[in-house]
Amino acid sequence: MARHFVLNTGAKIPSVGLGTWQAEPGVVGDAIYTAVKAGYRHIDCAQAYANEKEIGVALKKVFNEGIVKREDMFITSKLWCTNHAPEDVPVSLDNTLQDLQTDYVDLYLIHWPIRMKKASGFDPLNVIPSDIPATWAAMEKLHDSGKARAIGVSNFSTKKLADLLAVARVPPAVNQVECHPVWQQSKLRKFCVSNGIHLSAYSPLGSPGTVMVKENVLAHPVIVSTAEKLGKTAGQVALRWGIQMGHSVLPKSTNEERIKANLDVYDWSIPEDLFVKFSEIEQARTESASAVEAMKTLLLFGCLARSMVKLIRGNFLIHPEGVFKSVEEIWDGEII
Ligand code: A2P
Repeated sequence: MARHFVLNTGAKIPSVGLGTWQAEPGVVGDAIYTAVKAGYRHIDCAQAYANEKEIGVALKKVFNEGIVKREDMFITSKLWCTNHAPEDVPVSLDNTLQDLQTDYVDLYLIHWPIRMKKASGFDPLNVIPSDIPATWAAMEKLHDSGKARAIGVSNFSTKKLADLLAVARVPPAVNQVECHPVWQQSKLRKFCVSNGIHLSAYSPLGSPGTVMVKENVLAHPVIVSTAEKLGKTAGQVALRWGIQMGHSVLPKSTNEERIKANLDVYDWSIPEDLFVKFSEIEQARTESASAVEAMKTLLLFGCLARSMVKLIRGNFLIHPEGVFKSVEEIWDGEII
């Protein structure tokens, strides 16, 4: 069953990719090496994760050792919010390419539909009005140049995708969003399917262990009972559900055993009678932080970029005098 999905560019995106968000420098390189040796052919990176340099070193090692060829890997990276100005877009990709030690990425995404002042840090007052058509035109040039073989977006609502499609010369190949059995993205998925946009799932395990998570997705009774019946782990069931829904899934792990287990999702499936139960799961987007919690996380992790991305609902962007005054405005009301 679907080891890859086909993008609207004709390229194949492997259905399981290794997430690298929150994969600490000093650890992420080993995780990449282990994953590629175990058979992963898809790595999901971002400038904001502050670990692309180390990933580049690990990739070079697997290429040099002949474990895999560059053309057999699918590498994604993302444009951070501070680099939306059209002139900053190619510079940003060049920096990523340099760090990853490669001439091209297979997929380059606008990380958030949100623009922040250049080189600015964590403060909702650094959010400035975005100009997605202008940023997208710069992304299209990267696609033309071949440095980004496919281009797409992340954290876009249905409305923002529709707005983008109305002006795009090159339609986005992918929308990468939070997606797991407890946040299934039904409306967005239907829109993506009918417009030829592939949905890629971040936090496919519901980010267990994250201080911001309200609900433990892997402890959900439907997942637990399915796992028991099939003799699989809850993590494997969550990932297999995503693949059967037609999503690529991007589980993050730096643990060798879990890295391997998360790829063991192909020679079995969730049978129809169990699969239908997933559609009855009550939906709840991963809870994230109030401003106070956000500051605590910031202090806890001491890393601006990773902490910001951690707050995936976007509360950290909200301010009464800012561009976004409520979370609903970021997601165009497509939030519970
Ligand atoms: P670790 O890196 O120690 O494996 P998500 O991809 O949904 O954001 O989840 C990532 C989190 O889930 C990480 O904390 C990771 O920890 C943990 N994790 C990864 N794979 C599994 C699994 N199969 N079962 C349980 N937890 C997992």
